[in-house]
Amino acid sequence: MTKGRASAPAKVILFGEHFVVYGSPAILASINRRIVVDARTIAENKVVIRSDIGVAGEYGSSSFKATEGGMEAKATLDPLHNAITQVLVARGKKKGIEIAISSSVLPGIGLGSSAAACVATVAAVNSLFQKKPSRQKICELAIKSERLIHKNSSGADCYVSTFGGLIYYSKARGFKEIKSKGALALVIASTGVRHSTGDLVAGVKKLKDRNESLFQSLAKQAADICAQAHGAIASGKCDKLGELMNENQAVLRQIGVSHYKVDDLIDICGKAGALGAKITGAGGGGAVIALAASRQDGGKIASRARAAGYESFEVEIDRKGLVI
Ligand code: PMV
Repeated sequence: MTKGRASAPAKVILFGEHFVVYGSPAILASINRRIVVDARTIAENKVVIRSDIGVAGEYGSSSFKATEGGMEAKATLDPLHNAITQVLVARGKKKGIEIAISSSVLPGIGLGSSAAACVATVAAVNSLFQKKPSRQKICELAIKSERLIHKNSSGADCYVSTFGGLIYYSKARGFKEIKSKGALALVIASTGVRHSTGDLVAGVKKLKDRNESLFQSLAKQAADICAQAHGAIASGKCDKLGELMNENQAVLRQIGVSHYKVDDLIDICGKAGALGAKITGAGGGGAVIALAASRQDGGKIASRARAAGYESFEVEIDRKGLVI
């Protein structure tokens, strides 16, 4: 039996979600919450997936059996099964594989847990064999698998999870690392409302199809905000960055991806001293990200959100990305 392990970080989208699907830029950061995948070869010719997130199952050559989590298991595990199969095909191997997933990432609220799981799965299964693929190759396979969850994925989640750090992404120019001046004191608060990224992306497409000129004008605003945010991060202007987060949130509200609990959380964060706050990721509930002036302020914001009944924690930007 051969064993391998890989871990990949969750992420936040600081600016540009949704519009990134249509070519606008986005700013993302990987965060210090990880998904760990342990892989091993097994004697039986099947794929077994276990996890600590309430879903588990077994895949035969053309069958699936949920061993935990019922219907939800298949939707969550299919991309990972696809990732494993892709690695085996690329390697020309026919082997039974078991993976075990341990997660410190809340699922379904926009923190990129599925992308991180795909990246770590591709890397862990690859590590069972000789000759390691490049990070770029791992990222490409993970993006293909993640597209099973939502087919219009920009791929930005998998990229930031693979390479780590703070990233400026645009379709035209690809991914560019942003060197930030000073640390960002970030707080995440969850509305507790799980979302389907695919459904929200489809909803935004409907709005775009109905009113292309409105959508284009909002996309332009979001792109301008993103470009200014790039400058504010690079020059360490946190007050400006907070204002830009609020402006981005106003644009996101107009495309219908906010939620009354998001508004409540943003209000709580603002009253607790946040410089700015917005949805991070697809919205429709999900998580809110707030920027604080200092770590101490960040702690205050998180505890106010918790006192109001929301799960909330401070995060740091992860610089490592995928670890094998
Ligand atoms: O995976 P989430 O829920 O963080 O959202 C992804 C961000 C979107 O811009 C809405 C979609 C995408 O593929 O970039």
